[in-house]
Amino acid sequence: MKRIAVLTSGGDCSGMNAALRAVVRTAMNEGIEVVGIHRGFRGLIDRQYEIMQNRSVSNILQRGGTILQSARCKEMLTAAGQTLAADTLTGLGVEGLVVIGGGGSLRGAQALAERGTQVIGIPASIDNDLSFTDMSLGVDTALNNILYAVDCLKDTASSHDRTFVVECMGRDSGYLALVSAVAVGAEFAIIPERPYDLEAICGNLRQRYQEGRINAIIMVAEGAGTAHDIAAQIRGRIGFETRVMVLGHYQRGGSPSAFDRLLAARFGLAAVESLLAGESGKMVGLSCSDIALTDFEQVLQAGIRPIDQLMVTLAHKLS
Ligand code: F6P
Repeated sequence: MKRIAVLTSGGDCSGMNAALRAVVRTAMNEGIEVVGIHRGFRGLIDRQYEIMQNRSVSNILQRGGTILQSARCKEMLTAAGQTLAADTLTGLGVEGLVVIGGGGSLRGAQALAERGTQVIGIPASIDNDLSFTDMSLGVDTALNNILYAVDCLKDTASSHDRTFVVECMGRDSGYLALVSAVAVGAEFAIIPERPYDLEAICGNLRQRYQEGRINAIIMVAEGAGTAHDIAAQIRGRIGFETRVMVLGHYQRGGSPSAFDRLLAARFGLAAVESLLAGESGKMVGLSCSDIALTDFEQVLQAGIRPIDQLMVTLAHKLS
């Protein structure tokens, strides 16, 4: 193998740069040239790329975002877009491709694999919604971002007897809201995977207020509703004054945690080694501390990763 390409696609996350560095350095150590595709599949279709050098990935390990930039590319869902993308790879003489991104990106990667490109995927999305990996890249950093924000919020909430409804990302998955609820000691987590009873939540918060508690935190995954809507429904009914914080894209940025840097290094190495071993159409993942390869087909068919019942129990019993 003489030349591979790498791209970052979909919503960005911390650790993408670290994974990019690992891919480039591993490949270059094997004497393989690396083409960096700009703006994900968009750049593949539009032929925007650069030849990466060792120096191209210097000093990026600690930086959030992605130096290659990213995009959500609707055209990649069409046969015409997929043909253009595959043609670019052929034209560049690329023999293997590493796609760093979430579920939508793996779908694009699978389409290229079906057209004969040798492709390996690296799971990267703060939502942690992909099956067949215990953790995707960026999740740990996003969780730490949430903890920092909510810890700050609890200080001021306590000074003013306030409840805060905090909205996390997670279009289809309650992972961030649920796990951060356990880690910050929130009173409730509202997630798309489980029904919730606002009447019961109000009753519980009212009781806590009457018992003299001085703050409360409700974590909400965006897929379950907006924090503003939920706050509007409980405002005036619980004793506490109710305020809102929408964490938004803040969660996706910042310097990657040690966990994400190490995971990125392992995923990047495994992706290139898998290409060299002739593997294709597979995602590298973390399975009980080991790196595992799973067919895109299987990952995509499994759908949104189910929530961990232990986390549900912890959120409930420790609040
Ligand atoms: O795909 C990850 C994610 O962070 C979702 O949780 C969120 O809904 C979405 O990205 C937001 O994406 P964008 O930045 O494209 O609006």
